[in-house]
Amino acid sequence: MDFPLPRWFAHRGGGALAPENTLAGLRLAARLGFAAVEFDVMLSGDGTPVLIHDETLERTTNGQGLVSETPDARLFALDAGNGERVPRYAEAVAMCREYGLLANVEIKPAAGFERQTAETVARLSTSLWQGAAVQPLISSLSLEALEIARDLAPQIPRGVLFEQVPADWLAVVRRLQAVTLHCDVEHLSDDVLAEVQANDIPVLCYTVNTKKAAESLFERGVSAVFTDRLDLFVTETSAYKGLHLGG
Ligand code: G3P
Ligand code: MG
Repeated sequence: MDFPLPRWFAHRGGGALAPENTLAGLRLAARLGFAAVEFDVMLSGDGTPVLIHDETLERTTNGQGLVSETPDARLFALDAGNGERVPRYAEAVAMCREYGLLANVEIKPAAGFERQTAETVARLSTSLWQGAAVQPLISSLSLEALEIARDLAPQIPRGVLFEQVPADWLAVVRRLQAVTLHCDVEHLSDDVLAEVQANDIPVLCYTVNTKKAAESLFERGVSAVFTDRLDLFVTETSAYKGLHLGG
């Protein structure tokens, strides 16, 4: 495995410049020169993987209720902002492939749907990304989901995602055969960062929305950041050449 790890990931598609987790967001990120995007994938009531962050529809669409109880016919008729639809995961992959975007696919299972979501996303990912020049990076806060991804789609790289990095993080990384560690910037201590770096594992932090914070993290050795403020990082993304993850 060998793929470039950009420094900036557009968070939830196009960050704050477009409705979150929409195709418009992905398109905007690509147009602004971002080489990488992060988005969240959950199952609809019909078991279709779609891009959405919350388990409920209210915050990001004009619908109501649980995503996991909403059939596709109703879900895809909703407005996810500026007339955008909730996209199918398959549509997002097609767009990422068209633009050559590295996708961090965050498996975001609704509670109780961990296994089903991970199995569906892993199986579908294998076919959707087949032959792609840039493979995605699959992450999840659900370790169960990552274990399933490891078993069903071992060829797709995995990143472990923690709100707070636990003491046994290295055992988790090894068990999941993960290549990156993603964590909440608010909880990243210098000690943990040093430990992860000593093991040569790139650290990716969310969510970083000022230049000052990003620069300070890069100085501390963080490899990449997820940002909502695409406008702040346009110059850097355009000039970016890329690091390489080896293995
Ligand atoms: O994957 C990084 C980040 O997206 C995790 O937080 O809540 O924005 O999905 P959240
Ligand atoms: Mg996310």
